[in-house]
Amino acid sequence: MHRATPTPPAMNHPPIRSYVLRQGRFSPAQQRAYDALMPRFGLPYRGGPLDWAEVFGRRAPVVVEIGSGMGDTTAEIAAANPGTDYVAIEVHTPGVGSLLKWIEERALTNVRVIQHDAVEVLRNMVPPASLAGIHIFFPDPWPKKRHHKRRILQPDFAALLAGRLAPGGYLHFATDWQDYADQALAVLAATKGLANCGDGFVPRPSTRPETRFERRGLNLGHAVSDLLFIHERTP
Ligand SMILES: C[S@@+](CC[C@H](N)C(=O)[O-])C[C@H]1O[C@@H](n2cnc3c(N)ncnc32)[C@H](O)[C@@H]1O
Repeated sequence: MHRATPTPPAMNHPPIRSYVLRQGRFSPAQQRAYDALMPRFGLPYRGGPLDWAEVFGRRAPVVVEIGSGMGDTTAEIAAANPGTDYVAIEVHTPGVGSLLKWIEERALTNVRVIQHDAVEVLRNMVPPASLAGIHIFFPDPWPKKRHHKRRILQPDFAALLAGRLAPGGYLHFATDWQDYADQALAVLAATKGLANCGDGFVPRPSTRPETRFERRGLNLGHAVSDLLFIHERTP
């Protein structure tokens, strides 16, 4: 009797994601912004690399933000740095709508949004050595030990991020969960090609405005940690 070859166990499991898709409140204003502006400022997910000059219609440094949430910080940073182009990656539809609303209200031309899993976007859409910076501000903390594997900053992802940074590019990570901060420090310090700009953590750089989730953490009495690493230039 013919028996089907068993599928290797790894193929039975969906990939571990760093998010759970919540519906949340999608306000009529966010919905309108989403419908009207996603075709203009959204970049559809695709399995091949983008050409940043083509995307933005100019050659400028490109910074990717992973998990832009409601987009208020993204918009503030982009408005303060018109000479830099920003790509926000976020899976949460109301958050994407909110960012699009900010783009419209602040008349920003230097922001694009990709609504898809950041791990796949970084792997497949972002060309190697093409980024001036990467922002990961207050990623989902997954505080329970059995959920730590869902935290986005894992050694493999850190290595992927390092490879997407241009020489001299930076990675800025911030969290209000001390054990995630310690884990991120250990992971980034062990990532080939990255060098710590501080002696461990750094004071909040003035380039990072306070974020929505940061305020939530501060209200809970959490301390905030920033990490700044740079992609070393190879001689
Ligand atoms: C805790 S919130 C922080 C939002 C914002 N950075 C802030 O500080 O206010 C984390 C965000 O990351 C998004 N996120 C988590 N994993 C993601 C992934 N793999 N790809 C894209 N977005 C992700 C979540 O949907 C959520 O909006």
